[in-house]
Amino acid sequence: MTNGPNVLSARGDEWKWRRKALVPYFQPRAVNPAIFPHLKDLAARNADAMLTLAESGKEMDVDKETGLLTLDVICLYLFGYPTAELDVSDLGEGGARNMSAKSQTPQLLLPVIKSTKWAQRNVDAVRGKLQSFINKAIEKSTLLSAADIERLGFTTITHNLPGHDTTAHTFTFLLGHLAQDPKLQESLVDEIHRAFGPSPIDWSKLCISDFNQLKFATCVIRENLRLHAVAPGGLLTCVKDSVIAGIPIPAGTDLIGNYYGIARDPEYFPDPEAFKPERWALSEDSVFQELTGDVSDMTTKTEAALPELSFALGAHACLGRNLALIEMRVLLAMIIERVVIRPSANTTLEAIWVLLVTPKNGMNLSFSAHHG
Ligand code: HEM
Repeated sequence: MTNGPNVLSARGDEWKWRRKALVPYFQPRAVNPAIFPHLKDLAARNADAMLTLAESGKEMDVDKETGLLTLDVICLYLFGYPTAELDVSDLGEGGARNMSAKSQTPQLLLPVIKSTKWAQRNVDAVRGKLQSFINKAIEKSTLLSAADIERLGFTTITHNLPGHDTTAHTFTFLLGHLAQDPKLQESLVDEIHRAFGPSPIDWSKLCISDFNQLKFATCVIRENLRLHAVAPGGLLTCVKDSVIAGIPIPAGTDLIGNYYGIARDPEYFPDPEAFKPERWALSEDSVFQELTGDVSDMTTKTEAALPELSFALGAHACLGRNLALIEMRVLLAMIIERVVIRPSANTTLEAIWVLLVTPKNGMNLSFSAHHG
């Protein structure tokens, strides 16, 4: 049950029915009302934790925290309880994060890998934890049946890379940018106060569509996704004879989509290495479609006037796009309105690409209260 087939590993018809069966769980109309109260709670708790650290002058490696935060978001939504409730203290570095990856069965791997020490490691402990998580999820979940959890491989989607690490690292880079740019933080806070009134804001009175007013914040999120796409390329297969830029590509050809290169093409993004949120405001309506749209539409188009491939487009486009975007929008607004973020001596936006693009040395940041 813990490592069965899933939408990420399946191909052809097997992938098709899995994708179709998953779509309803990722529709904004299903996700948004269910996740919004959890997001507000988690954002408030994280802002509190940052301010508590501020009092003691300590720093936080936000990349660790964002991983747990985004894991809780997806687990609360799909399973009805946070992973934080699991006792994973004996699982070592990373704990609940990547539990699914940690428990991969060596039997599935190529012979050459099977003989490595890593493949022969004992996965019983982590599998036991994951299984107990699933059992509890089956008991508690109002959204998913035990059969769904097993059939659709939800534990892989949640506890492996796609469901939380993607959003976590993206949000970490965003906090890193903010730390280095106090003016950017001020502009965000100004927009939030214009939209929701002065501090203290009563967030409990706001509904999810109120966050649509945060156009500048949305542009900031987009610009961060452009510069720090966790998936800088995609493996594509040409399904019919095509011609791309004058080059004939026969059906069946495998291609690599260079999303990193497109996101830095100066023809679309002048001064491509600079963090310039305002470039996204050029589109006629810079409100993301994610709050009302349909997941199936989102695979074929983006509402931005500029090329936007951070979530890919097409049949395999990201199913969690809407969830990730509303998550980042609410977390960003609720944290930045209360907390001033500062770099530490070794803060850098340097990245490394191992499956996903991640901050090379974590992201140590320090905090203070506004006017504190
Ligand atoms: C900032 C956050 C995220 C980014 C940048 C991102 C990016 C991507 C990209 C580029 C792909 C396409 C990969 C390919 O070409 O094969 C993808 C696929 C996928 N993503 Fe995301 N993702 C994010 C968040 C999420 C979340 C929160 C979930 C679920 C909770 C999720 C679930 C999936 C799934 C299931 C697929 C596979 C779709 C398929 O093959 O049919 N993603 N994601």
